[in-house]
Amino acid sequence: MQIVVTGASGFIAKNVRKFLSDNNVKLISISRKDFKKFPNETKIITKKYDEKNIVTKIKNSNALIHLIGIGKQNIDIDYNLIHIELTKKIINLCKKSKIKKIIYTSGLGVSKNTTLGYFISKYNAEKQIINSKLDYTIFRPSYVVGKNDHFTKYLKKQIMKGQIEIPGSGNYSLQPIYIDDVSQIIFNSIIQNKFRNKILDLVGSQSITFEKYVKEFSAGTNTKIKKINLENVYNKAMSDPHSDFGVDDLNLLIGNFKGNFNKLKIFADMEFTSIQKILKSGSLF
Ligand SMILES: NC(=O)c1ccc[n+]([C@@H]2O[C@H](COP(=O)([O-])OP(=O)(O)OC[C@H]3O[C@@H](n4cnc5c(N)ncnc54)[C@H](OP(=O)(O)O)[C@@H]3O)[C@@H](O)[C@H]2O)c1
Repeated sequence: MQIVVTGASGFIAKNVRKFLSDNNVKLISISRKDFKKFPNETKIITKKYDEKNIVTKIKNSNALIHLIGIGKQNIDIDYNLIHIELTKKIINLCKKSKIKKIIYTSGLGVSKNTTLGYFISKYNAEKQIINSKLDYTIFRPSYVVGKNDHFTKYLKKQIMKGQIEIPGSGNYSLQPIYIDDVSQIIFNSIIQNKFRNKILDLVGSQSITFEKYVKEFSAGTNTKIKKINLENVYNKAMSDPHSDFGVDDLNLLIGNFKGNFNKLKIFADMEFTSIQKILKSGSLF
């Protein structure tokens, strides 16, 4: 089995690559910048994912896992360019390389009724994939937690400073899913036929409010928790590209999206790690 991974140095990609390598899958991983290889892995470094550098190297792979995405835009790089145009390019690469299966991580909350630019771009990326005639599995993840995801790193940084700031009430919910479970499901979706041409929410079993999550995350660390005015956080997000929360990070949080865990569980047919267990085990530290 040989699998191609795009956006190789991202959080989900790094973990999925390690999982696949540990399971003796041959990998071809593509990134814009150099990265450390796992056993059984070949790397391709490219800025623009141009056909001529890639097609011969990935030809006849069994599947491609497309893990490129952004959560913040700027005047040079926007959602249209990355989620839609780059996805078109990746679909073309699959076709030219005779790769029949594509896995894509979209977002929880994507629907045809969405009014949010971030979700509209993900919806259109999904549509490109569905219309491509490739065999696809599209996942719509909630918040994927692991040692090095962006949000966990942010919380650890705040704990070091002695205070975690919660935007607004903190009453909105997340439905976190553990990265090791995500890696396993992505692998299953490649080797099991039942995932063919399916769209699945990628969520954990429980919804938990942001405030409760933060409290449990920082339990025993002597960290103060402070609620900050939502207008101020949005104002900062809109004008400061380095703010901790981007506008769409806030939209996704406040959006309070819930996914269908029961459907995922039936498909995945595996044990999921509960968020309490992850938080209590200290494995995010
Ligand atoms: N993590 C979550 O909780 C979560 C939740 C919902 C959806 N998702 C989706 O899942 C996918 C992976 O998420 P992640 O958390 O692993 O994100 P991530 O750590 O930010 O990784 C995304 C990767 O996309 C690639 N990328 C970014 N900008 C690019 C550009 N201008 N041109 C080419 N490649 C670019 C980069 O790969 P290289 O640096 O290797 O080039 C980057 O590492 C994304 O599509 C994201 O929207 C994630």
